[in-house]
Amino acid sequence: MRKPIIAGNWKMHKTVAEALAFARAIEDKLPDPEQVEAVICAPFVTLPALVEWAKGKPVGIGAQNMHFEEQGAFTGEISPVMLKELGVQYVILGHSERRQYFNETCESVNLKTHAAHKHGLIPIICVGETYEEREEGQTKEVVRSQVIKALNNLTAEQVKRSVIAYEPVWAIGTGQTPTAEEAGDVIAYIRQVAAEQFSPDVADAIRIQYGGSVKPDNIGQFMQQADIDGALVGGASLKPDAFLALLEG
Ligand code: G3P
Repeated sequence: MRKPIIAGNWKMHKTVAEALAFARAIEDKLPDPEQVEAVICAPFVTLPALVEWAKGKPVGIGAQNMHFEEQGAFTGEISPVMLKELGVQYVILGHSERRQYFNETCESVNLKTHAAHKHGLIPIICVGETYEEREEGQTKEVVRSQVIKALNNLTAEQVKRSVIAYEPVWAIGTGQTPTAEEAGDVIAYIRQVAAEQFSPDVADAIRIQYGGSVKPDNIGQFMQQADIDGALVGGASLKPDAFLALLEG
């Protein structure tokens, strides 16, 4: 049985003070970690305070990107070693905003995925088609290629510990979503790709989230799909009550 994982992606929102105010508002209401894995992926500068706050609480803390090198002349970058030292457990990789605005490629996502596993971080690997690709009927082809490249040369055990987030680019921050059935169909296809690339056993274990305009009032439909194991949520994860409602499914 795959445990659902609901992750908030705060993107470039919240100062340290705002992050801690959010944390205090949810800390007594977090759900049973046996039922759902709750994760907050926050800006780098808020991570030390959030990791400290989260100690002993049923919530994991994640970063939203990292470099694949351990150290070096990469001005402005953060390494997996630095995240691990802080006590960060997850890292979002290949978000479409990073692919679109910061030249993230399938190759760098693969290098980062290897680096995450080397340092014991759980990667949340984002894939998804643009509006034009969907209109041209290329969704599965695009997603297949992104998944195969991201997971290239990982071990079966590493893939089993990874999380994939299927985020159609056109659904991010737009209020538009595919139907739950459409999202479930693409996610079932991603599982099939993982079965071909690795094994049915690996495909059964890997958790695959849906992301893109998920809100408390539509998350239930997505979670009812057999292949959808959770959600990666932007805007709706910024308010404590909405985040708690998302965790309730
Ligand atoms: O990574 C989550 C994200 O891109 C979706 O954003 O605001 O549509 O939930 P949003």
